[in-house]
Amino acid sequence: MNKTIYDLRKLILLSLAIGSVFWQCTSSEGKDVWQLEMDAFINDLLGKMTLEEKAGQLTLYTSGWTVTGPELREDYKEEMVAGRAGNLFNAHTVSYARELQRIAVEETRLGIPLLFGLDVIHGYKTTFPIPLAESCSWDLELIENSARLSAKEAASAGINWTFNPMVDVARDPRWGRVAEGAGEDTYLTSLIGVAKVRGYQGADLADPTTILACVKHFAAYGAAQAGRDYHTVDMSDRVLRETYLPPYKAALDAGATTFMTSFNELDGIPASGNRYLMTDILRGEWGFKGFVVTDYTAINEMVAHGVVANEKEAAELAFNAGVEMDMQGGLYSKYLPDLVAEGKVERKRLDDAVRKILKMKYKLGLFQDPYRYLSEERETSTLHSDELMQAVLESARESIVLLKNERVGSKPLLPISKEVKSIALIGPLADNQKDLLGTWHVAGDASKVVTVKQGIEQLVPQAKIQYAEGVGFTGKDQKKMEKAVEVARKSEVVIMVLGENYQQSGEAASRSALGLPGHQQGLLKAIQALGKPLILLTMSGRPLTLSWEQANIPAILHCWHLGTMAGQAIAETLFGDNNPSGKLTMTFPRNVGQVPIYYNMKNTGRPFDDKNKYTSKYIDVSNEPLYVFGHGLSYAEFEYSDLTLSNSELTAGSTIEISANVRNSSQVPGEEIVQLYLCDVVGSVTRPVKELRGFRKIKLAGGEKKRVTFGLKENDLRFYTRSMEFRAEPGKFKVFVGSSSNAELKGEFVLTSDPLNE
Ligand code: BGC
Repeated sequence: MNKTIYDLRKLILLSLAIGSVFWQCTSSEGKDVWQLEMDAFINDLLGKMTLEEKAGQLTLYTSGWTVTGPELREDYKEEMVAGRAGNLFNAHTVSYARELQRIAVEETRLGIPLLFGLDVIHGYKTTFPIPLAESCSWDLELIENSARLSAKEAASAGINWTFNPMVDVARDPRWGRVAEGAGEDTYLTSLIGVAKVRGYQGADLADPTTILACVKHFAAYGAAQAGRDYHTVDMSDRVLRETYLPPYKAALDAGATTFMTSFNELDGIPASGNRYLMTDILRGEWGFKGFVVTDYTAINEMVAHGVVANEKEAAELAFNAGVEMDMQGGLYSKYLPDLVAEGKVERKRLDDAVRKILKMKYKLGLFQDPYRYLSEERETSTLHSDELMQAVLESARESIVLLKNERVGSKPLLPISKEVKSIALIGPLADNQKDLLGTWHVAGDASKVVTVKQGIEQLVPQAKIQYAEGVGFTGKDQKKMEKAVEVARKSEVVIMVLGENYQQSGEAASRSALGLPGHQQGLLKAIQALGKPLILLTMSGRPLTLSWEQANIPAILHCWHLGTMAGQAIAETLFGDNNPSGKLTMTFPRNVGQVPIYYNMKNTGRPFDDKNKYTSKYIDVSNEPLYVFGHGLSYAEFEYSDLTLSNSELTAGSTIEISANVRNSSQVPGEEIVQLYLCDVVGSVTRPVKELRGFRKIKLAGGEKKRVTFGLKENDLRFYTRSMEFRAEPGKFKVFVGSSSNAELKGEFVLTSDPLNE
C-alpha cells in the first residue's frame, strides 16, 4: 500500500477516536471537530491528486457478468489502477467487490476506496414487488421498511450506493418505466420518495447497513412524448414546478445525498447539460450539497441530441452545468484534465466536485475502513433472511388490487372456498418464476420465487390442480390452446394468470398497445365462452387496457409483478386469507386513445356534457377511464357518510378539520385507504378538478365504524399563481372524501384572507 496514504489514514483514525470523545462531550462541538477533520483530510488528499486522478474520482464504470460470474473489463481495471476510475457499479457479492476494493486501496497511487453502486430498485436478491405495485399499498411505513431491508441486503453484498428512488411522476402507461415509480400523483410520489430515502440511508450513513440514495431521473423523465422512452420532454415552467419537481425536492429535503440526471431534454437542453436544472434549481434554489451523477452515457448522448459538436464539448457542457460524475461515458476522465488546462473548466470547480465525492466516501466510513461493507459472514446471514422474506410477503399482499368482484349467484366470486375440488390454472404467468420478479430485478434470485401454482398447491393441498400454459407472451400454438380449454372444461373453477413478462415493462420497453400481449386475450375469450366461474389474475409493469375483460370476466385481481413471495400472497388473496386492500396509483385507460389520462386534469372551458356535442370529449369512447386513480375493492364493503368541516373558513396559521365516517358494512374484516381530495374553485390560473391532499389506511372489523379526520392548512392550498409565486389564493375550496378519486362526500370552505397580505 502507498505509504503516504497509509500514514494519513492512521492519523485520521487517531483523530477520529479523539473526535468521538469530543462528540460524547458535546454533540455540536463533536460535529464541528468531525467536520474539521474531514475537511482537513480531504484538502490534504486533494493537494496530492493529479488532474487525472481528480477526473478519475468523477468517473463511474460498470462491471460485467459472464457465465462464470462477475468480471471487470480489462481496460476498466487498467483505468482503476491508474487512478482514472474511482467508482464502480454492478460490482456486487463480497468476494468480488473485496478484490476490486483491494486493488483500489493497495494498487493505486493514493489508495482511495471505490464507491459501489447498483440499481437496488425493489430489492437486491430478495425481490419486493415492483415500485408501482408497492405504491398501491399507500403504506409509507411498509415502503420505508422495504427500502431499509433492501439496503441491508445490498450492503451485505458490498453495495454502498443505490440508484433509487425513482420519483418521476408518470401519466402515460405506454412508457415502460412507469413500473419503477409511484404512479401519476405528485403528492403520493413525494411521500413515497421520502420514505425510500429514509429507508436506504437510515439515520446515519456511518452505519454499514445503510447505502446512499440517488434521486432520479432529474428531471421530468416521466413526461417523455408519446410514452416513448428517452423521448423529448417539453413543458411550461409552471407544470414542471407544480407537477414534476416536488417529489425530487421532497426526497432532497429528506436527506438524499446524490441525484441522477435524466436522459431527456427539457426545453431544448438535455438534462445532463442543463444548468437551469442542475445549478439554478438544484443547488441555487434547493441548496443541494451532494453530488450529481449522469445517467448511463448521458453526456456522450448530447452529441446525438445535437447541442454539442463532439464529446469534448459534451464533457465541458455537462461539467459546467453542474454534473459531478460521469456514468459509463468515460468523457470526464478523457477530457477534464485538458479542459482545465485550456481554461474551459475552472480548477476550483473541479476541486469542489471531487471534494463532494470524497466527502461521501468519508461519510460512509470508507477511508476509515474500505472493507466495512465487505464481510462474507454478514452477507451469508443477511441474504434471503427470514426478516426479508416476511417483509416481501407482506408487501406483496398489500400491493394486490382487486379491480372487480362480481356476484355469481348469492356471493361474490372471490374469495374462492377452500373446499374447492378442482382448479384449472392457465396462462404463461401461472407457473412462472422469473417474470414475477418484474423489471430491474438486478440480482433477484428467480429460483426462490414462489409461483402462483406453488402458492395455491400449498394453501389448498386437497384440490386437484391442472395447469396449462395455453399461450406464451408472443405467438400462438393451437395445440397448447386446445389443451388449456380442455383443462378448463374439466375443472370446477378456472384461474387464468395473464399479462406481461418482465421485459415488457421497464427501460426501453414502451408499448403502443396496452392490452394483454400476444394471443392471451384470444385464449381468455375461448375459455370465458365455456361459462365456468373464471378468475383473471393480471400481471404487468404498467396499467393495461382491460375493457373487454372488465365487461366479460366476473373477477379480476391485478397482481403487477410481485417479486419473490408473489405466489403465496396471491394464493392467500384468492382464498380469503388475505383481504386485498391495494388502490391504484395510476389510472387504467379504456383504450390507448385516452392516454395520457390522469385524475387531476383541468376542467376546460367546455367540460363534458353528454347532451352537448361541442364539449370536451371523444365521439368513440367515454372520458371516464376504466379504473380511476385510487380504485381498489375489498372483500369487505365500506360505506362513507357524515362529512363535516370544523369551520367554514380557513385563515393562515389555522387548521381546518375534515371528518367522515367509514363503516365496514360487511362481516369480513378489511383495510380501507380513505382519501381526501381538494379543489381550488377559482384561481389566477386554472386549477385541477381535484388533487390528492391526504389519505389514511384504516383497519375495520366486520360492522365496525370509525371517524376519520384530516387537517388542512393554508400551505396545503399553495400553487404557482399567475405571477409564479408559490402561495394560496383566498376563495372557495371544495373537499372530497371517499374510497377513490371518485370520492363522493363533498364539502366546502373559504380561505379568508390573502396570507401574503397579513
Ligand atoms: C437507467 C438508470 C440506471 C442506470 C444504471 C440507466 O440505463 O436509466 O435508471 O440507474 O442505467 O444501471
